[in-house]
Amino acid sequence: MNALHQTWEKLIEEKIEKKQQKDPYRPMLHIAPPVGWLNDPNGLCQYQGVYHAFYQFAPFQAEGGLKFWGHCTSQDLLHWEYQGVPLMPDEPYDCHGAYSGSALIEEDTMYLFYTGNIKFSGDYDYITTGRENNTILAVSQDGSTVAEKELLMTNQDYPKDLTRHVRDPKVWKKDDTYYMVQGARTTENQGVVLLFTSKDKRNWTYLRRYKKEGAYGYMWECPDVYEIDGLTVLSVSPQGMKQEGLHYANCYQSGIFFLEGDVHLAEITGEFRELDRGFDFYAPQSFLADDGRRIQIGWMGMPDVEEHQNKTVADGWQNMLTIPRELSIRDGILCQNPVRELEDWWNQIFFFEGSYDGKMEPCCEWKLTIEKDVSITLSEGLVLRYQESEGIFWMEFTDHELGGGRTIRGSEIKALSSMRILIDVSSVEVFLNDGTDVFTTRFYPKKEQYTVNISGNVKGIYCWHL
Ligand code: FRU
Repeated sequence: MNALHQTWEKLIEEKIEKKQQKDPYRPMLHIAPPVGWLNDPNGLCQYQGVYHAFYQFAPFQAEGGLKFWGHCTSQDLLHWEYQGVPLMPDEPYDCHGAYSGSALIEEDTMYLFYTGNIKFSGDYDYITTGRENNTILAVSQDGSTVAEKELLMTNQDYPKDLTRHVRDPKVWKKDDTYYMVQGARTTENQGVVLLFTSKDKRNWTYLRRYKKEGAYGYMWECPDVYEIDGLTVLSVSPQGMKQEGLHYANCYQSGIFFLEGDVHLAEITGEFRELDRGFDFYAPQSFLADDGRRIQIGWMGMPDVEEHQNKTVADGWQNMLTIPRELSIRDGILCQNPVRELEDWWNQIFFFEGSYDGKMEPCCEWKLTIEKDVSITLSEGLVLRYQESEGIFWMEFTDHELGGGRTIRGSEIKALSSMRILIDVSSVEVFLNDGTDVFTTRFYPKKEQYTVNISGNVKGIYCWHL
């Protein structure tokens, strides 16, 4: 740990100690930064039985800034404990940001692969000049402190037809080979994913790339590759996709393709499918839990969107991660559902049939079985509705104050039979048809505004925690 690291550590601790007590929108279950700004989940893993989540963290300002890795741990994916800031931009090769990356666990060692961002000041376009994206390995022997950092690759080591934008390494091991994917932008402004291999985690060889002709954006961030239920998934967060009807309505997208064949030769098959149709979801990453579950966490936020406000900035922090979601394949579709541990979180339950009108707890879940049509109003200004004759599920803020400027998102859905709504103080995650479609948003109810109105032919379970 160098002197800069020590100084920052002290400053961050002081900042956390001084944080204000009034914090009405802090979630109970979700990962949020103690102070400052959070974005992408990083280095998700289970190490010595404990779940670890790191995240992009700008501790000094709620509006963002220099990126560190914040860290928290959990025994059950729901109770998270802040563990400090193990990775800092404290070396010449990562001095303008310890950007996103992943974890690989081998025996009792945690290997963290990440991007060291460098941005020169001057008259640059910051696409082909003015910036460096280095690939770095940080090694931890205890899961909470970094013992050594090593520069593995610079822009010189990446293919020549790429811009300076190459980042977000995701690493895994299969048989006796290590694999790494990185997101990249070509000089033709096409988003691609690069595949590297290594025998020792330190020396990497570029093998090939995954790409798709068509309007899939100029840059693919935060790639992930995993096998699930016999299929291989390529998950990417493209920048630059144009809105097409109800699709790609956010500033940037996150979604998946399937890969056909062995990763060495595989090509993208089929269409891009968005992972979340709400307002706040980006840069998801997954990991394999010890029990074999593939678990995904995303950033519940969206970069570069000025028209959406987050009221927590007034309380000194901004953004959170999604609930960890178990992934599975059903009828060829990747489904996301809250981790099963959530069932044990609730200790109060109320069954109802038909409509419901009343108060709700700030942290609660609604599990609904739907006959045909349904309309739900949360906090007097967030409407979730579906009419089978129209065939579109809508998430609409009729109260723009409640949604901090968010408006409306929709998705074509042939039939709606089930719905889970997870509310955690200032977030709403809606899982439709057993996780086939998901809508995620932040919202900011006033204290007395935790209310719900459900109308339709519905059977429901309301769960909360006392
Ligand atoms: C995605 C991203 C990554 C980058 C990180 C920086 O949100 O832009 O590509 O590593 O955020 O914070």
